[in-house]
Amino acid sequence: MARRIVIIGSGGRLGAALLREWQALGDEVIGLNHAQLDIGDFAQVREKLGALDFHALVNCAAQTNVDRCEKEPAEARRLNSEAVAAIADACSRQRARCLHISTDYVFDGEKREPYTEQDEARPISIYGQSKLDGEHALHAVADRHLAVRVSWVFGPDRPSFVDQILQRALAEETVAAIADKIATPTYTLDAARLLRPLLFDQPADGVMHLCSTGSCTWQQYGQHALDCAHAAGLPLKARTVAPQRMSDIPAFIARRPVYTAMSTALLARTTGLAPRPWQEAVEEYIRTHWAPRFPR
Ligand SMILES: NC(=O)c1ccc[n+]([C@@H]2O[C@H](COP(=O)([O-])OP(=O)(O)OC[C@H]3O[C@@H](n4cnc5c(N)ncnc54)[C@H](OP(=O)(O)O)[C@@H]3O)[C@@H](O)[C@H]2O)c1
Repeated sequence: MARRIVIIGSGGRLGAALLREWQALGDEVIGLNHAQLDIGDFAQVREKLGALDFHALVNCAAQTNVDRCEKEPAEARRLNSEAVAAIADACSRQRARCLHISTDYVFDGEKREPYTEQDEARPISIYGQSKLDGEHALHAVADRHLAVRVSWVFGPDRPSFVDQILQRALAEETVAAIADKIATPTYTLDAARLLRPLLFDQPADGVMHLCSTGSCTWQQYGQHALDCAHAAGLPLKARTVAPQRMSDIPAFIARRPVYTAMSTALLARTTGLAPRPWQEAVEEYIRTHWAPRFPR
């Protein structure tokens, strides 16, 4: 019998990509988007997952709005932590493996070299704390479940920073981005390739980091996106990204960690698959998803 995969949060940026990419590989994948399953309703989680027959599940659903989490901590806790316990429990009842997507925001950002899975997580925001609590909730249900931390997720299924900066550079003469925060982008199509072996073939447990290699500020990320877009023929009005500080952004309510690049050595060792430099992933995304909208 084919091994069936369930994806929760399949309407989101990462979940939609996993659903499409794995279905294209011939996997039997069931996607549950927000309308189909509210993870905040634990009875619904039990009922819906209990009625399905599956062998692995990936939870991509979360309250991902970092500033909203500061204002609505109970909601953050419910969706990012308590719901994870309900989902992991439903997986264990099916003897299915649960991969739960977590975040680089579990770290305080004080380090200046890539965080490994052994580094202590010390969140500085409600969002980060709720996600760390989610990892603990996952492992309290069963050790064999895996928390996968990603960072700066981008891809074709929902706009993110890279799309916003390109939109702005197409419309305005000047654009700016934060230059005092460093992390590593994660391309959803790369995540689909790198996560797939973790479902069944190389079942690691505990925590694993998944992102591209290298690191950058938002300004460098944006500048590279503009350079790639220019090379791909996009009619940009702005060609350079000016620096901003996090403190220049009044809309930021939550504290954000300054440095959260993550080491992917464990992922590479476990799967035998190497993540690629973030610059290559951004270039491919712009060439394949943005350039076709602007035929030369
Ligand atoms: N985006 C990043 O840069 C980033 C960085 C680090 C870690 N992560 C983690 O990566 C995972 C995937 O994030 P993403 O980038 O794909 O974000 P996303 O596009 O915001 O996806 C999150 C999904 O969760 C759904 N959701 C929210 N509340 C829900 C509920 N009560 N019940 C069911 N579904 C609900 C959302 O649906 P609606 O939109 O319809 O509400 C959305 O489809 C998350 O765990 C996030 O914490 C993301």
